[in-house]
Amino acid sequence: QLPERVKIVEVGPRDGLQNEAAPVPVEVKLGLIERLEKAGVSVIEAGSFVSPKWVPQMASSAELFQQIDQKPGVSYPMLVPNLKGLESALSVGVKEIAIFAAASESFTQKNINCSIEDSIARYSDVMVQAKQHGLLVRGYVSCVLGCPYEGEIAPERVADVARSLYELGCYEISLGDTVGVGTPAKAQQMIDAVTKCVPVENLAAHFHDTYGQALANLFAVLQRGVSIIDSSVSGLGGCPYAKGASGNVATEDVLYMLNGLGIQTGLDMERLLQAGDFISRYLQREPASKVARALSAA
Ligand code: HMG
Ligand code: MG
Repeated sequence: QLPERVKIVEVGPRDGLQNEAAPVPVEVKLGLIERLEKAGVSVIEAGSFVSPKWVPQMASSAELFQQIDQKPGVSYPMLVPNLKGLESALSVGVKEIAIFAAASESFTQKNINCSIEDSIARYSDVMVQAKQHGLLVRGYVSCVLGCPYEGEIAPERVADVARSLYELGCYEISLGDTVGVGTPAKAQQMIDAVTKCVPVENLAAHFHDTYGQALANLFAVLQRGVSIIDSSVSGLGGCPYAKGASGNVATEDVLYMLNGLGIQTGLDMERLLQAGDFISRYLQREPASKVARALSAA
């Protein structure tokens, strides 16, 4: 049974841009965020408070956040890896953060320089303080359909980490196919394992499109009742700690599919295409969105 409505979480400004080698100026990021708001996106992941040595592109996140002309009804979550990141977030008035764990030990080590167990302990401290300040906290699990270092990941391991984040108090758990290696039946098996611990309405699908499987995988998990999708306009992005990872599934392509299925999103295709066109022109790159390409050729 497909959901009637899907919430789109636009991760382009963070996941999409974090991997760009040349710094994207704050004004350009603000221009992108403004266009995404106009397209009707209600959640825009705007940046991250991580080490600028690890991810230089996100170094301007505090400055960026302070300059966002926040619209009512729109939330702007920011990634936070530890207490230091939380401090930075609080100092600029962030209302929602996302903590990020993974189902793979090696990926966790490469991405945040600690073990899975230590990461959960760290996030537990972050959660206590975040709750004291009334923040909403989203949780990520990476490598849910495979790891760039370890290969196959058992669905039960994904479920364990998802359960830990849910028990810490994350209101939503986003399941990341970080390297885009998943296929539809595997995606369903993974969701079946995770829904034993976390209600399906609290799960988001965060699929990268490296192997061209993201839309198929999304359709597969929609059939399992998942109703929150992370995507990035123009298919921007990749992960700096996952070699070869391409961008998230393109928001335009997700919207085209959902529109075709009669599933509501509140997004406007025309304006979304304008947002994609804006950032693609800045980056001097063809959009990775098939829909954007088809419509610009038409
Ligand atoms: P570490 O080196 O173990 O940290 O890195 P540390 O505590 O030992 O500190 C070392 C230095 O970093 C110190 O500075 C700290 O002050 C600084 P120094 O004394 O050397 O000058 N530092 C910080 N600076 C700014 N903000 C902070 C912060 N913390 C420490 N929050 C750390 C550990 C977690 C910081 C590092 O590994 C890191 O920043 N990792 C982030 C990696 C990242 O951003 N990855 C991409 C996001 S995840 C993703 O894309 C996947 C996702 O999309 C889902 C999916 O697709 O699967 C979410
Ligand atoms: Mg990602």
